[in-house]
Amino acid sequence: MTNTANIALGDKSAEYPVLSGSVGPDVIDIRKLYGNTGRFTYDPGFTSTAACESKITYIDGDQGILLYRGYPIDQLAEKSNFLEVAYLLLNGDLPSKPDHDEFTHLITRHTMIHEQLAQFYRGFRRDAHPMAIMCGIVGAMAAFYHDSTDIHDPQQRVIASHRIIAKMPTLAAMAYKYSIGQPFLYPDNSLSFAGNFLRMTFGVPAEPYVIDPVVEDAMEKLLILQADHEQNASTSTVRLAGSSGANPFACISAGIACLWGPAHGGANEAALNMLREIGTPDRIPEFIARAKNKDDPFRLMGFGHRVYKNYDPRAKVMSKVAKDILDKLGRSDPIFDVARELEHIALNDPYFIDKKLYPNVDFYSGVVMSAIGFPTSMFTVLFAISRAVGWIAQWTEMMEDPEQKIGRPRQLYTGPTQRDFVPLNARG
Ligand code: CMC
Repeated sequence: MTNTANIALGDKSAEYPVLSGSVGPDVIDIRKLYGNTGRFTYDPGFTSTAACESKITYIDGDQGILLYRGYPIDQLAEKSNFLEVAYLLLNGDLPSKPDHDEFTHLITRHTMIHEQLAQFYRGFRRDAHPMAIMCGIVGAMAAFYHDSTDIHDPQQRVIASHRIIAKMPTLAAMAYKYSIGQPFLYPDNSLSFAGNFLRMTFGVPAEPYVIDPVVEDAMEKLLILQADHEQNASTSTVRLAGSSGANPFACISAGIACLWGPAHGGANEAALNMLREIGTPDRIPEFIARAKNKDDPFRLMGFGHRVYKNYDPRAKVMSKVAKDILDKLGRSDPIFDVARELEHIALNDPYFIDKKLYPNVDFYSGVVMSAIGFPTSMFTVLFAISRAVGWIAQWTEMMEDPEQKIGRPRQLYTGPTQRDFVPLNARG
């Protein structure tokens, strides 16, 4: 088997190494291409470009496989808990019992935020989107920890990771409380990660908050399913921001901004809004026709994925979580019925079959979050709490990579060539 690729341009050709990972497609190492040929590669959207080496998450989009550090996502969602998964993503292996307990203790010790940070919320409009608040408030954490975060010190990187994972739920719950005019609740470190977040979000200081184990379990699964997804847009944003040596809290804020978009994490909000707009199964054909119409910008939200050309394995688990929580809470949700029928119709339609468009994680996550009681505007915030683990694990991996360089893509320039400045009074 050849381990080089020959690239010929005119009468010149050169060999380029072909690198193999532990699994997945080989990659052609074209780092010397520009030096050898004076040519760049052109790959908008990075559809054919591996930007880094990573040991964290593996996706086989054709088979519909997602592994965190080698473990299938369905096994982790079924058998693990969010903090154990966070440990796995950060450290590479599942923790021993003492390591698990110590990690849980460390994260728990960081759940409170600096009291002064709470003042920031008052600067936002009450009706501000919570993702806008999260971009600002997580970035603002850099102001509190900048001097104490030497990114070149491994121990300080670990502390920054723990702070981010631990404080995200506190900040997110405060964004929610601020929007509904209720007082902020301090964390309760006797509770699980998910339980603590539920209490800070839905509890009030005037009375005890009783956690429903069904809801807590669904919340844990939701967090596990979205914790990492290799080099997606927001993770690549965090890596790119971090590649310049920027403060990690500021980098996570950049990731939150990217996640907000409806083509990425914002799709869960858009998907539920779409399901509500459809309302009843008899209106599905109308929306399917719109999704297929080239002249209509409408897309089926929660459908399609850059990498999965098969059923998104997270969507499989999420659809089961949605069914379970509705059954266990003894509720029926017409939106869930619309989602199931829409999925059935789309999966049998040649347009979706030919383009390999399947439900993604966001198709059912909205049903679960809505059943828990979250308003749609909080959906992407929950995604951010979970994905913060992946972001910080990937940032740490990048910081430890001896081959790490500042990210600096090139371009195909198609603007004007050099021309002389014309004074204002001489312009036509
Ligand atoms: N509904 C209808 N048509 C679609 C859809 C859709 N949801 N997604 C893709 N297509 C069509 C698209 O029009 C294009 O058709 P053609 O080849 O005729 O031009 C073809 O499928 C390929 O689409 P693309 O936009 O070139 O594919 P992409 O890999 O650049 O985009 C995507 C992937 C996720 C942005 C896109 O599928 C999409 O916009 N989906 C809806 C938004 C969504 O659910 N996003 C959540 C992604 S999963 C959560 C996460 O990881 O953040």
